Amino acid sequence: MKVKTILITGGAGFIGSHVVRHFVNSYKQYHIVNLDVLTYAGNLENLKDIEDAKNYTFVHGDISDDSFINALFQEFQFEAVIHLAAESHVDRSISEPLLFAKTNIMGTLNLLNAFKELWVDDWTGKRFYHISTDEVYGTLGETGLFTESTAYDPNSPYSASKASSDHFVRAYGETYGLPYVISNCSNNYGGFQFPEKLIPLCINNIVHHKPLPIYGDGKYTRDWLYVIDHALAIDKIFHDGKNNATYNVGGNNEWTNIDLVKLLCEIMDVKLNRAKGESQKLIQFVKDRPGHDLRYAIDASKIMSELKWQPSVTFKEGLMKTVEWYLSNAEWLESVTSGNYQNYYKTQYQE
Ligand code: NAD
Ligand code: TYD
Repeated sequence: MKVKTILITGGAGFIGSHVVRHFVNSYKQYHIVNLDVLTYAGNLENLKDIEDAKNYTFVHGDISDDSFINALFQEFQFEAVIHLAAESHVDRSISEPLLFAKTNIMGTLNLLNAFKELWVDDWTGKRFYHISTDEVYGTLGETGLFTESTAYDPNSPYSASKASSDHFVRAYGETYGLPYVISNCSNNYGGFQFPEKLIPLCINNIVHHKPLPIYGDGKYTRDWLYVIDHALAIDKIFHDGKNNATYNVGGNNEWTNIDLVKLLCEIMDVKLNRAKGESQKLIQFVKDRPGHDLRYAIDASKIMSELKWQPSVTFKEGLMKTVEWYLSNAEWLESVTSGNYQNYYKTQYQE
């Protein structure tokens, strides 16, 4: 049987590393090529356990370099792409919007174009899977849910760049017949997440008795999904999703930031043998994020009914596993928070 060669982009990042590990371990019949430029968010340590697997190859390179991307597609003849590489942090998109356009829009376009050049004469058995976010839909008020037909209404440079890339994927489907699938997922949490995002940032700060910065009044609401459940959803969508369809993925698990951080503090007090309520004293309300979206919440009924996917862990179980992961990977946390992270933190939180 011919081995299917699949390109996974951004596989050294948070979600990408879970997806690469899952595909390398579960599908020996695939050759998984992980393309990553290794920005501050990409780390090959995330994939130490599978780096010598026979069905795995790492390629260091930039999706925004079109001639490199074209040559890579010619060399490997990828039959499928699972595209996760992106600049992914809203706060950084506010200070560096052009980088977000370059990576998220032009990078996606380069991949689409190289895929089209390779297969436009015969799309049989090919698939381009684009991983996106619920943030493209903008913000919800106090009620309602994002469905697959909610109009795009992005508010941050990050979400605008992701929305634009989603549109290009769809346009390649309509114009060139490129078989694609897109999923828009809610906020992920779990091991290997870079500690610029709320949950790992707070875990790291609690460990070090540092303030927990809560933007605005802390009433902003997110729908949290354990990263392994996202990786399993990606597997289902990649294999069984309909061509040219979109799937929303979410945990049906809404939390205000303040309630979430309080829960995290309770878990950490127990894990660190601290007195009840000690970590909560670190909470500090700080200046709000500009253009801060009030609420995200996903209606995941399509993927649940069509592809029989559902989250496998409750939020408390997932959060507990996440805290345990960070506490037993103190070296990883230490290495990613030294160097440039310190400068980022000082600028972002005006220490
Ligand atoms: P991440 O920032 O942890 O990882 C991104 C990875 O992409 C890193 O390994 C980085 O080195 C790589 N990368 C960045 N620019 C690149 C370039 N020019 N060329 C090659 N590689 C490059 O991000 P994440 O949280 O794992 O998110 C992965 C994807 O999932 C993104 O597309 C993001 O928009 C989407 N998503 C994330 C979430 C979330 O909660 N984290 C939710 C929904 C969707
Ligand atoms: P984040 O993890 O950056 O994800 P996103 O912006 O993609 O939803 O932020 C999650 C929520 O937490 C969001 O409402 C912003 C808020 N937040 C804080 O209150 N303080 C922080 O230091 C960070 C990083 C985020």
